Amino acid sequence: MKPIIRYTGTIAVTAMVAFGAAAYFIGSPTVEAQPAPQTAPQTAETAAAPAPTAPPAGSAAGSAAPAAGGDATAPAAGAPAAPAAGGDAAAPVAGAPAAPAASGTPSIVEVSCDLAAPSATITGAIDGEVAVGTSVKFALPPGVDIIPDSQASAGLQVAAGQTKCLKFNSDGVFLFHSTTKQHGAITARQWYDILVNKQVEDLKGGNFWMPKAVNLTADDSDLMYYAVLGLSIFFFVAIAGAVIYFVIKYRHRPGHKAEPSAAHNDALEITWTVIPTIICVFLFYYGWQTYVRVVTPPTKAVEINVLAWRWNWQFTHSNGVQDSDLHVPVNTPVRLVMTSKDVLHSFYAPVMRVKQDIIPRRYTYAWFFPTKPGTYRLTCAEYCGTNHSQMGITNEGRRAVLVVHEPGGYERYLADKAAVSMNMNPQDLGKQLYEKKGCNACHTTDGSPRVGPSFFHDFGTMVPLNDGTQVKMDENYIRESVLYPQAKARPGFPPSMPSFEGQLKEKEIEGIIAYIKSLK
Ligand code: CUA
Repeated sequence: MKPIIRYTGTIAVTAMVAFGAAAYFIGSPTVEAQPAPQTAPQTAETAAAPAPTAPPAGSAAGSAAPAAGGDATAPAAGAPAAPAAGGDAAAPVAGAPAAPAASGTPSIVEVSCDLAAPSATITGAIDGEVAVGTSVKFALPPGVDIIPDSQASAGLQVAAGQTKCLKFNSDGVFLFHSTTKQHGAITARQWYDILVNKQVEDLKGGNFWMPKAVNLTADDSDLMYYAVLGLSIFFFVAIAGAVIYFVIKYRHRPGHKAEPSAAHNDALEITWTVIPTIICVFLFYYGWQTYVRVVTPPTKAVEINVLAWRWNWQFTHSNGVQDSDLHVPVNTPVRLVMTSKDVLHSFYAPVMRVKQDIIPRRYTYAWFFPTKPGTYRLTCAEYCGTNHSQMGITNEGRRAVLVVHEPGGYERYLADKAAVSMNMNPQDLGKQLYEKKGCNACHTTDGSPRVGPSFFHDFGTMVPLNDGTQVKMDENYIRESVLYPQAKARPGFPPSMPSFEGQLKEKEIEGIIAYIKSLK
């Protein structure tokens, strides 16, 4: 009798391990067969193969083909209008000149206010942000006017008291001045760039412990977290309280004699063994069940490839669109297939409760089910070198974000983004790549060296090399250094640049050359 009771603890632990093992071997095939039952809605099918809706432009031939293939030829013929943004204003404004996003063309045009509902209304000489390709209504009060500051802002002219609709056909910052305010600026961005520049919403609706959850399966893991936290607090207080109470109550005092300790108390020993065992088994079972759901994506998920390197993200979508911000559809499971170009990184989206290491030379996976459109935080959660904390940061100092689109928005993003990058002139394309490919993490454009040499004023000069010789920085040198960074490395900089061989289209390399050239 006595030995059995004495070893109750051992027996209980053995039973728990056996139960766990049995549950794992019996349970796991069943769970794989029905992955995350409630999380695969029918919308997944449509979103999984997002047939890019042709941007609302005149020539369907030029714009409908997504920029998926590695086509080196720029389709100059029939360049369509910059795709209209802002949902309702999808219909192209009839009669308005279709301006391709090439430099040198007028980028601000006046449109009739009757044709399309304005996406923004500007009522004073103030800084503003507008979506490219939409009608923007200017309704200025008497005494307030807007006068363009430079050639680039030509067309941005509104008289005091006038109401006028303008359309911005390209990205850019358009400077103006007025009689009431010295200077102002209107920033025109693509509609999806407006979304990524929004303030992150993680803390709206969150609590002291965690940001709000936007992932359907996060409810389970949050519950587990609170359960373990609650139990820990309860037992900490109970045990610490009992210790303090007994220390005071049975302290040594003159006239009190210590009683000999009881050898056994069967009832007490059974109680303190059985109750924690039951709690542990429950925690294990629900934790394991949640874990299996978290690591098993539904079969019908939108798949996005993730490539991480020091210090940027690259998200590649099904139609070839690449971005350093992660755009996903709402109410659809999203699966990430991730790998690294250099060292360990970790994908971490707090609102999704997803944190997964990204490992060079192998793929790791993560998935989530976004439930609410918005702009959310996205970080690297594995120390990956000097600029780990800056990973994904853009030239403007903005962090890479996770954008959950409204229904239909993801498909529109894929189509519009593909159309824009096909129409871009080489220099703008190069500038965009400089930011999107993370060149800006190491190379500045103002002459100050960072991890790598600055691009400023270098083109056409002789630059020193590691082996003591010099080379002229020309098109060939840039091309070689992008594809094989260590071939002609320069002294004073660590050999940390990854190769971009096979990751840039011919047109994109030309763009980067054109951009560096423009900085001389
Ligand atoms: Cu990438 Cu830290």
